[in-house]
Amino acid sequence: MTAQNSYSDIDYELLMKIQQGAMSYQYRGVPLQKNPFDLALYLWLLEQTRPQTLIEIGAYQGGSAIWFSDQARLLELDLKVFSIDLNVPATVTGPSVNFLQGDARELGTVLPSSFMNAVKRPLMVVEDSSHMSGTTAAVLEFFDPWLRSGEYIVIEDGILSDMRVEELYDGGPLRAIEQFLEKRGDRYEIVRSLCDYFGRNVTWNVNGYLRRL
Ligand SMILES: C[S@@+](CC[C@H](N)C(=O)[O-])C[C@H]1O[C@@H](n2cnc3c(N)ncnc32)[C@H](O)[C@@H]1O
Repeated sequence: MTAQNSYSDIDYELLMKIQQGAMSYQYRGVPLQKNPFDLALYLWLLEQTRPQTLIEIGAYQGGSAIWFSDQARLLELDLKVFSIDLNVPATVTGPSVNFLQGDARELGTVLPSSFMNAVKRPLMVVEDSSHMSGTTAAVLEFFDPWLRSGEYIVIEDGILSDMRVEELYDGGPLRAIEQFLEKRGDRYEIVRSLCDYFGRNVTWNVNGYLRRL
């Protein structure tokens, strides 16, 4: 892939250096696999949309769930975080953070209708699990009927395409987003003001900040 047909303004060499830092970053002693751009964008998004429920798919060791919860508290939000993973982190706890064992491809099992009907609104969803296009597609399909106007679903790591590894992920998140929007494009907006805030797709969530219309 050349600089001309990449999705992001970040060139490949710099992208891989930032990725190295992001993969070793820690928050409160727990790995938090995010880069500075998206930490800033998420903070802005929390402040603007003031969610009361955040459902994250892909907890890893829990760093991002704790970070979301802590930031929400500083912003005086009444936010509950539910973070789902195939393997629930054992070592971390945090106020208002709930780790649930579940599979992104079978979310109806861990998030039954009784649960989804009861979540406090606004809802915000962050998909950060396997990044296989089929998994991302399953998450988008699951949440589509539940999301209400103005709520966000953030699809992480479309940047894998610019990292030149999308084949390993069967096209990765970007393929899933593109195919989903071909069907449901009338119901969602890719929020360019977030994706392009620091430059064109200077975010790991390339074309991934989706707002339900
Ligand atoms: C990129 S890490 C999450 C990073 C975390 N959100 C953070 O920012 O620190 C991806 C996580 O997704 C989980 N995962 C992979 N496939 C999954 C699936 N089908 N369902 C649920 N979780 C999955 C992995 O176990 C891993 O912990």
